[in-house]
Amino acid sequence: MDMRPIARPRPVAGPVTTGAKGGGIPRYLTHHYWWAYVHPNAVRVFERQWLVNLILWGCYRQLRDAALAAIGETAPGRSLQVACVYGDLTPELAHRVDASDGSLDVVDVLPVQLENLGHKLPVDAPVRLLNSNATDLPAPDASYDRALLFFLLHEQPADVRRRTLEEVMRVVRPGGSIVIVDFSRPGLLHPLRWLWLPILGVLEPFARDLWRDGLEAWMPESARRSMRSTSYFGGLYQRLVITR
Ligand SMILES: C[S@@+](CC[C@H](N)C(=O)[O-])C[C@H]1O[C@@H](n2cnc3c(N)ncnc32)[C@H](O)[C@@H]1O
Repeated sequence: MDMRPIARPRPVAGPVTTGAKGGGIPRYLTHHYWWAYVHPNAVRVFERQWLVNLILWGCYRQLRDAALAAIGETAPGRSLQVACVYGDLTPELAHRVDASDGSLDVVDVLPVQLENLGHKLPVDAPVRLLNSNATDLPAPDASYDRALLFFLLHEQPADVRRRTLEEVMRVVRPGGSIVIVDFSRPGLLHPLRWLWLPILGVLEPFARDLWRDGLEAWMPESARRSMRSTSYFGGLYQRLVITR
């Protein structure tokens, strides 16, 4: 296991746990997403909220707020965010967690993404940045009150997606919540279904099966029973809330 500390240019927002559990950087990231997440220039280019907003057709704020609303005004106890995101979602979440005397762990397999997130958080935020694969979360069973996955699942190959969901179900306690915001398949009359999805399908090859089968198909049976779904932007996006 790689135990190098994550270098940070200023004091850390909470302790940083290091060592990428789960076998290093996955090939699908270096192969398909080097331009978006892996290369240091990717962070420089994409860490602009207006750009992320543009890519999401002006829906970043709406989707961010939908995620936060599902988490609630207060977030006491232990929260988990699986994978970093560009923009101010995590600082907003960290603020809620802090105001509720809770704590937040953010897990990402790319140190460069965790470093970038560290720059966006107040130095005294109750946040740990954990370098690990989502398929092998560094946490005991039932140890979190809630978990958030924001536009992660469509980027993962099917086996990784399935394993990530199993891991999230494992680490969230019974009665806790899992909030997922991601793509869904818009209706036949949605113009972006015919314009945008074919382009996105090239850039994001693993998203195609998600559009075909829906996120539900990837959920463990126990998650499907309690799942509540809300659509956004004519069905191009969705929020799922699962009570564990
Ligand atoms: C959450 S997704 C997409 C976020 C969205 N495009 C945005 O920035 O608003 C991007 C992050 O997922 C992380 N990621 C992808 N696969 C992962 C895995 N198996 N385990 C942990 N992190 C992963 C990447 O390293 C990257 O930081």
